[in-house]
Amino acid sequence: MLIAQLSDLHVMAPGRLFRGGIDTAARLKLAIDDLLAQRRQPDAILLTGDLVDRGSAEEYAALKTLLAPLAAPLLPIPGNHDARDTMRAAFAECALFADDQFLHFAADLGPVRIIGLDSLEPGRVEGRLCAERLAWLDARLAEAPERPTMIALHHPPCPTGIPHMETINLLEPEGFAAIVRRHPQIRRIVAGHVHRPIESRFAGVPCGIAPATAPQLMLDLRAESQSNNRAEPPGYVFHLYRDGDFIAHTVACGDFGQPV
Ligand SMILES: [Fe+2]
Repeated sequence: MLIAQLSDLHVMAPGRLFRGGIDTAARLKLAIDDLLAQRRQPDAILLTGDLVDRGSAEEYAALKTLLAPLAAPLLPIPGNHDARDTMRAAFAECALFADDQFLHFAADLGPVRIIGLDSLEPGRVEGRLCAERLAWLDARLAEAPERPTMIALHHPPCPTGIPHMETINLLEPEGFAAIVRRHPQIRRIVAGHVHRPIESRFAGVPCGIAPATAPQLMLDLRAESQSNNRAEPPGYVFHLYRDGDFIAHTVACGDFGQPV
């Protein structure tokens, strides 16, 4: 079982540029072309939020066109730049989301279960999981205790060491942590939001943050660091499930020449 994770795509309406200067659609196309050239293709494509930049139907239409060459099933969750209603409509054919107000899902793929969470709080940059969403998660975990499980959400619940990002991560994660500790089948938690590849831990479980296909956050670990993006290469993660656990490979995309 191989799951590709693309995060923070920030696709914009045709002709518009991210923060006035960078073509996020071109960067996503570069990542998708790289993925399609992989000799082993993924069994599913996990999209961990900020799929588009403003949440408009026009942006989701542009996103769907860019994603069309991917053959594997799409597993999208929202980030703070997404809008629930337009995103639900854009991915209606996936028949994926639970029948409630949130864009969360539980998908069984071969031996594993992927649970996608909706940490979006409309109008806010930071994320939260309310009591209703936590109860839904607890029920999905309780119904498949033997299935090795990956949980995906946009906002990282784990420390990142980047102070200005930690103020806008998943806030008040204690309830989520208590659920994670109760369900030992959770093998890995994956997130986005930071626009950098980071490995950390949450409630005893490995927690990985994927790079963006949009511009990356410049690495600055000082207490006074500020949010600056730059056009480091777009990236994605391949999560390989083998022998009861997930192995994460982060890929940088670009033209790096022939193998030597
Ligand atoms: Fe983002």
